[in-house]
Amino acid sequence: MKKINVHIKTNRQQDYPIFIGVGLLEKINSLVDITKYSKAVIVTDKNIPSSLVQNLQTALGLPNSVVVLESGEQQKDLENVQKVWKALKDFGCDRKSLVINLGGGVVGDIGGFAASTFMRGIDFLQIPTTLLAQVDASSGGKVGINLLGIKNLVGTFQQPIAVIIDIDTLSTLPQRELISGFAEIIKHGLIADKEYFLLVTSKKAQEFSQDELIEIISKSVQIKADIVSQDEKESDLRKLLNFGHTIGHAVEAMSQESNKPLLHGEAISIGMVIEGKLSKILGLLSNEECEILEQALIKAGLPTTLDLPVDDILEKIKSDKKNVKGETKFTLLEGIGKAIINKLVDDFTIRKVL
Ligand SMILES: NC(=O)c1ccc[n+]([C@@H]2O[C@H](COP(=O)([O-])OP(=O)(O)OC[C@H]3O[C@@H](n4cnc5c(N)ncnc54)[C@H](O)[C@@H]3O)[C@@H](O)[C@H]2O)c1
Ligand SMILES: [Zn+2]
Repeated sequence: MKKINVHIKTNRQQDYPIFIGVGLLEKINSLVDITKYSKAVIVTDKNIPSSLVQNLQTALGLPNSVVVLESGEQQKDLENVQKVWKALKDFGCDRKSLVINLGGGVVGDIGGFAASTFMRGIDFLQIPTTLLAQVDASSGGKVGINLLGIKNLVGTFQQPIAVIIDIDTLSTLPQRELISGFAEIIKHGLIADKEYFLLVTSKKAQEFSQDELIEIISKSVQIKADIVSQDEKESDLRKLLNFGHTIGHAVEAMSQESNKPLLHGEAISIGMVIEGKLSKILGLLSNEECEILEQALIKAGLPTTLDLPVDDILEKIKSDKKNVKGETKFTLLEGIGKAIINKLVDDFTIRKVL
């Protein structure tokens, strides 16, 4: 088992461990001090195997109840947050109760947001069951929901008490979801570590062994933790993690309105190609590196192009909460393994690349 400590520099109260390994769900009591909680509510979705939920309930040894949500990005809304709030109230939760999110990024974001606002905030634990949530969504403390067709419009910054990444949970994950998770892994290489980028793109997602996967997840978690610990609230450095996400979120939100919704990692893959091209046009990334980026994503089995009206994408980009004073700032690449934040790009250039 690997253990990574996240130390938020601005807030000593919020240090927390991330455990990565196999068979961890059954050992939850030895990893986290559960005894200080009065009761727990497990938030999960209908695709999470019930055996996982039962194993967790058995291992907990605390009075607990379970909320099962519908699955999918469309569920990341206020209605489901209300469902969790109501379940917490109905189960008689108090400030010493714990929310445990067992599922992908959608469950983690809904459950985390509900916990961070219930009674002005109670503790929550993340047990991510998709690769994407394991390497990205479960750590970092951003929790929130979509509203009015805009991704993550409402949310809070609240760190979990711990993250337990049990690789065994991936055994039932559909291959498309596994590949989607690799988009964020590749992003970590692109923004922070060229050698890591070359390693994770050396073969297809499904060809990595379990041991290799543990190494990869640990490295990705470490890259994210290093960044978040220096800038929890995204004043500057944390924006590094947004590479591919300005365009990616617009594409993701638009695809949700179509009959062919993209997964988060798939939309980010398209976003990374377009933002890679922006980096090239601005003279930050060479032709060759831009090509390497695109080919790596294609090899990983991720989509890299999309046929969407340029005006609609631009409009969505403008409503992105990352924009300030109507200016569109991007995180771009200055080569593979190095990103640069706050690059102002005018609409003409964005249109040209789109
Ligand atoms: N908070 C953050 O910092 C952060 C970071 C990145 C992404 N996100 C968010 O995370 C979401 C995407 O997360 P995701 O890709 O995990 O999507 P998801 O939660 O929708 O999970 C993907 C699908 O896999 C199913 N599933 C989950 N675990 C499974 C398992 N072990 N076996 C079988 N099926 C399983 C789910 O039911 C769902 O249908 C997006 O909403 C994105 O905005 C948040
Ligand atoms: Zn992402």
